[in-house]
Amino acid sequence: KVVAVIMVGGPTKGTRFRPLSFNTPKPLFPLAGQPMVHHPISACKRIPNLAQIFLIGFYEEREFALYVSSISNELKLPVRYLKEDKPHGSAGGLYYFRDMIMEDSPSHIFLLNCDVCCNFPLTDMLEAHKRSGGMGTMLVIKVSAESAHQFGELVADPITKELLHYTEKPETFVSDLINCGVYVFTPDIFTAIHDVFTHREDRANIRRVSSFEALQAATRALPVDFVRLDQDILSPLAGKKQLYTYETTDFWEQIKTPGMSLKCSALYLAQFKMNSPHLLARGDGIMNASVTGDVFIHPSAKVHPTAKIGPNVSISANVRVGAGVRLISCIILDDVEIKENAVVINSIVGWKSSLGKWSRVQASALLQINICQSTLRIL
Ligand code: GDD
Repeated sequence: KVVAVIMVGGPTKGTRFRPLSFNTPKPLFPLAGQPMVHHPISACKRIPNLAQIFLIGFYEEREFALYVSSISNELKLPVRYLKEDKPHGSAGGLYYFRDMIMEDSPSHIFLLNCDVCCNFPLTDMLEAHKRSGGMGTMLVIKVSAESAHQFGELVADPITKELLHYTEKPETFVSDLINCGVYVFTPDIFTAIHDVFTHREDRANIRRVSSFEALQAATRALPVDFVRLDQDILSPLAGKKQLYTYETTDFWEQIKTPGMSLKCSALYLAQFKMNSPHLLARGDGIMNASVTGDVFIHPSAKVHPTAKIGPNVSISANVRVGAGVRLISCIILDDVEIKENAVVINSIVGWKSSLGKWSRVQASALLQINICQSTLRIL
């Protein structure tokens, strides 16, 4: 059996995603009309012999309760939210719930960051991982040398694909091959995390007896149970024949800012063409609005037949779109009203906003996204 764990973080993480994360936890923000975390969950569902999916975070349970119960019913697969009492880091959080994760005695554990957008080639990763005979395999991708420093940079053996060297967000360039935040491990990962605790405790004890200043330094250090997967596990285990890489040449993006959510929404809409074409709106649908390119329209939204929508548009629940409205590359969140002849381009229109007749909300490029949060009226 196999289980999957998705790290969703908590309210003190994802600050670059504000103001969108003030109203809704970032993992539940809609991309292509589905909560961000829904995309990795659907990918996990395709893994053979998957027993359970766990979401681990430090958001309040009630924020995820509705979503996990509806997705469990929809996929006919247990999806559980496990709440940490405080942040334990990306590996510490996994370790904290080891007993529950090991309930079904899985042979392999997938671990996914919730804020990455890709096609999650999980089954292929598992096959490659089994061939390697190591403890873990991570998804990696080549990016431009200029952008690599925002991620974990690594060197892999070109033949065996073993991870030879790993540095998290280095200041000087190491490699354009980076960590995508998607992994598969054997249960030995728990021993590796436990070893980090033991090593830290030993060091703290040595310092404690050696000098008062060292004791102060030890108390300033990270809590013993806070373990980061990248710095504390991947870096020290590189080059020890335990970790391997699986390179993807398909799309991959990190979702840290509102601007990125628009780009990722487009990528997932394009993927729906292959995986879930029923989710895409068609111009000849019930509403008869003119639709171009990839568009998602929630069934409860009311779109006037003379509106022109697309490409890359995602319209959430209870939205009303008036006559002659033009929407291009945008995310329209729940309960928004867009009145006659308004135009929205490269923008996110926030929950319950109202755009007046003939109003225009437009950014010239994805990086300059407008986030419209209130009422915009042109009299
Ligand atoms: N539950 C829980 N508890 N989740 C956490 C915690 C924690 O204490 N800390 C981080 N996470 C989650 C985040 O929500 C995110 O999904 C994932 O773990 C990684 O977050 P960070 O540790 O903040 O790292 P990052 O996103 O800046 O970078 C990581 O991912 C990149 C790929 O997106 C690194 O692994 C990079 O090397 C990698 O390139």
